[in-house]
Amino acid sequence: MATTNPNYDKLQAGYLFPEIAKRTRAFLAANPGVSVMRLGIGDTTEPLTPSVIGGLHRGVDKLADVKTYTGYGAEQGNAGLRAALAKRYASMGVELEDDEVFVSDGAKPDSANIQSIFGANNIVAVQDPAYPVYVDSNVIAGRTGAWNGSGFDGLVYMPCTAANGFFPDVPQGKVDLIYICSPNNPTGAVATRAQLKTFVDYARQNKAVIIFDSAYAAYISDSELPRSIFEIEGAQECAIELSSFSKEAGFTGVRLGWTIVPKRLVCEDGEAGKIHRLWNRRQTTMFNGASNIVQEGGVAVLSDEGQRESARMVAYYMKNAKVIKTGLEAMGLTVFGGINAPYVWVQTPQGMKSWDFFDKMMSEAHVVGTPGSGFGPNGDGYFRLSSFGHAEDIERAVDSIRCHLRIS
Ligand code: MLT
Repeated sequence: MATTNPNYDKLQAGYLFPEIAKRTRAFLAANPGVSVMRLGIGDTTEPLTPSVIGGLHRGVDKLADVKTYTGYGAEQGNAGLRAALAKRYASMGVELEDDEVFVSDGAKPDSANIQSIFGANNIVAVQDPAYPVYVDSNVIAGRTGAWNGSGFDGLVYMPCTAANGFFPDVPQGKVDLIYICSPNNPTGAVATRAQLKTFVDYARQNKAVIIFDSAYAAYISDSELPRSIFEIEGAQECAIELSSFSKEAGFTGVRLGWTIVPKRLVCEDGEAGKIHRLWNRRQTTMFNGASNIVQEGGVAVLSDEGQRESARMVAYYMKNAKVIKTGLEAMGLTVFGGINAPYVWVQTPQGMKSWDFFDKMMSEAHVVGTPGSGFGPNGDGYFRLSSFGHAEDIERAVDSIRCHLRIS
């Protein structure tokens, strides 16, 4: 008799973004003729750049010729792309071997799958609020208890509030896996070197592993801020880094990311090399490698011209972030993020609950955002706006908020 995984029953409602889409559809069905402006999910809207299109075409052309056709590639990624990624880290002063870079179909699947190589009893700590995949994947794996009304029993929530600049203190007790995202989704806060060092020191002392998500690193313009956790001394002994071409180069639908698992990384029962071997075992067993066409696109992103083009795309979205931030501040709202990150984190007026503010924003301004509580208990009272839209749509949305949202 087959049974289902009971841990799925612990999860809250639907996954956040489909839930927002469902509520938006219901609003549109109830209000025929109304159109909404979507600043909810952080999904890119600008077309791929000429270098990337050239790379993708090269990938297609190779498949069209018997002399260059390839079938299955290496599960860990094509050698050229792994080498190009390692070279990018070298330019940040981080020395990696090419085979410490694992190419994948995106940071989301890797951030969900990485927990599978760790013990079932590991205690997990997350920033609160956090990208929901870190929590949900560990709930599904059975590392938490039940939902207790504001969070999951057994999970260590590290509060990220206005008072601590949205970066947490290290946990008081001993935890084993620590998820950190910087630039942060959803708050837009970026960890400083000193802040990351506190976690690297903690992890080394406790043989904990940091799972560091740098999917938004391309949005950091302040040269003092670290783009990789491996810029912190000792991090290769205690951290894994997940990253992505999605937000840097518009690959949300194309799908391509990477995960760095250093060979020096250790944990309680894992000598140097073991975690690297386990991730390799996991990927070779459960993944057949990213699309060979798409990997050609990734190589193109990392070319000099590709990097210049991506920088222009990032600047375009960051201009949107500024429009949102300054527009809402001019209304008297308290706003965070949006400086070295594409997300603007808005404090709801009069301490409104996030989902109430979501409804208010939709009904009064016809703007869709993401309720902060969808990212964790400390997200309540906040609302996230994404800057990944077309500039004219962002301006229209900000105008509509200014003209129609009643905040006093
Ligand atoms: C977000 O809106 O938080 C992200 O776009 C979702 C994702 O990257 O999966």
